[in-house]
Amino acid sequence: MSKPSLLVTRCLPDAVVERAQRDYDVRLHQQDDPLPQDAILAGAAAADAIITAPGAPLKADLIARLPARVKMVATFSVGFDHLDLDAAKAKGLVVSNTPDVLTDATADITLLCLLGASRRAWEGQEMLRKQAWVGWNPRQLMGWSLGGKRLGIYGMGRIGRAVADRARAFGMRILYHNRSRLSPELEKGATYYADPEALLRDSDVFSINAPASPETDNFLDARRIALLPDGAIVVNTARGTLVDDEALIAALTSGKLAAAGLDVYRGEPKLHPGYLPLKNAYLLPHLGSATVETRNAMGFCCLDNLDAFFAGKPVPNRIA
Ligand code: DGY
Repeated sequence: MSKPSLLVTRCLPDAVVERAQRDYDVRLHQQDDPLPQDAILAGAAAADAIITAPGAPLKADLIARLPARVKMVATFSVGFDHLDLDAAKAKGLVVSNTPDVLTDATADITLLCLLGASRRAWEGQEMLRKQAWVGWNPRQLMGWSLGGKRLGIYGMGRIGRAVADRARAFGMRILYHNRSRLSPELEKGATYYADPEALLRDSDVFSINAPASPETDNFLDARRIALLPDGAIVVNTARGTLVDDEALIAALTSGKLAAAGLDVYRGEPKLHPGYLPLKNAYLLPHLGSATVETRNAMGFCCLDNLDAFFAGKPVPNRIA
């Protein structure tokens, strides 16, 4: 029997490509830039399924124009804001994502952002690399301790809970908002806030771990930033669209916020230029899931989902 044919819109890790090539007739995209939209459409003409990822969106227009031959889309990500699931459902496309496998890596990067921001890591790097360090000094680059501080987690799904586990080890108190309250086993003593604005008022550090959606767009705007205690720290490793950049930049500039640690941005790969000169913004280029182990696991998860689909079995991580 001939292998199903697979269009891949982003350059994937070698181990994933190797397995894909073993089991599928694969049309690869070998550049780091995502496959352009017109090339996705052209490639889809000979594809039974597509592996895509953030940066190579499949929105309603493109989905409507996909040939009927394409039966499934597997996204190499847990987030699916680059996909129009309603359009996919309307078209009868099966869609899967990659939950779980990137929980730990993303929680780790959240702590890196939190520590980078609270311990002024960027300023330290800059001082060394510019050869401006004149030696240890009792007042140099004093940051803010985490022990005893209140960490407000907005979005207590798998990643939010993994962030909480790590932050407990730093002696932080965990507060959270989620659409619904967690069971005591998952809550592990964290304090639930039904009202996210009450959570903001009580958070010395505020970590955004909720998915992007029309409801969460610009969640952290100027009005809500004003609710945070003066000198609070904001961390975002979820999606840039949850933050009003102008408002965050203004709060970091005025000193309302002590610092921010950001891994994600609205309009990636561009980011608001106002962040660039800010010494109290610790910035990473969307590295949340970027470990060899995690990226391989994400690719294998995509392939597990595709394998199940083409074997006529339930797709484990089906989202549409
Ligand atoms: C995801 O999986 O949604 C991540 O943001 C990509 O690392």
